[in-house]
Amino acid sequence: MMDLKLWLSILMVCAMAESQILRKDWLIDVPSRIPVLQSSCVVIPCVYFYPKTKKILNRWRGFWKRGDTIVASNFLNLRLANEFHMRSRITGTLQSGNCTWQLYGVRETDTGPFYFRIEIPQHKSFTFSKNTVTLNVFRVPKPPTMSVAVQDEVTATCKVTHVCPSSPPKFSWSHSGIRKTKSKKENKWLWSTTSTLTFTPQEADFNMPLNCTVTFPGKKTTKGSVLLIKKSTK
Ligand SMILES: *[C@@H]1O[C@H](CO)[C@@H](O)[C@H](O)[C@H]1NC(C)=O
Ligand SMILES: *[C@@H]1O[C@H](CO)[C@@H](O)[C@H](O)[C@H]1NC(C)=O
Repeated sequence: MMDLKLWLSILMVCAMAESQILRKDWLIDVPSRIPVLQSSCVVIPCVYFYPKTKKILNRWRGFWKRGDTIVASNFLNLRLANEFHMRSRITGTLQSGNCTWQLYGVRETDTGPFYFRIEIPQHKSFTFSKNTVTLNVFRVPKPPTMSVAVQDEVTATCKVTHVCPSSPPKFSWSHSGIRKTKSKKENKWLWSTTSTLTFTPQEADFNMPLNCTVTFPGKKTTKGSVLLIKKSTK
C-alpha cells in the first residue's frame, strides 16, 4: 500500500513537471506545407500554447499573416485586405489554444508563407514567425481511386483526398443505386471522402464502364471509371 502511494506521488510530480515545461514557452503545432486545389478550400489545423500565468485573462486576438498583411483574424470588426475579404476566418477557439484557420476560394497567389500571431492584452503577445505554413496550390484535381466488387450485388467505391473537411466534395455516379458517403481523417490536415454505390446488376450492365464524377467546392471536377466484369461461374 505504501509503495503504491509513493508511486502515485512520484507520478504526480513528474506530470506536474511536464506541464510546467509545456506551459513555460510559446509553442505551436501547424503543418508546414499543405497541397490544395485552386478554387477549393482549406482548413489549416493549428494548436498553440502560451506561458502559464496567474493573471485572469479574458481577451485573445489572433492573426494569421503573410508578411505585414493580415489574412485572417478572430477580430470580427477588422476589415481584411480586399484580397482576403469574405473568404478567410479563424474558426478555432483561441482561448482554448485552437488557432485553426479556414480559407475559401483558394487562389494561385495564396501560397504564403503564412504565420500566426497571438495577442493576449492582459498577458503577452507572440509571433510564431518561424513556424510558417505554405500552401502548394495545384490546378487539376487528381482522378479518384476506384474499386468494384461483384457478388449478387455490385459494390463500387470512389475515393478522393482533400484538405477541406468543412465542405467535402460531392459525388455523382453514372448508374443508379444506393449511395453512401463517408469522410475520414488521414492525418492532421488530409481527409479522404469515399462514396459507395450498391445496386443489383442487369445483364446489360456488364462490360460497361461505371463512372464516378467528383465535384469539389469551387466546382472543379474529376472523373474515374471502372469496368464491370461478370464473375465467371465455373
Ligand atoms: C479546432 O477547431 C476546429 C474548428 O474550427 C475543430 O474542427 C478542431 O477539431 C479543433 N481542434 C482541436 C485540437 O480541438
Ligand atoms: C463513362 O465514361 C466513359 C469514358 O470516360 C464514357 O465513354 C461513357 O459514355 C461514360 N458512361 C456514362 C454512362 O456516362
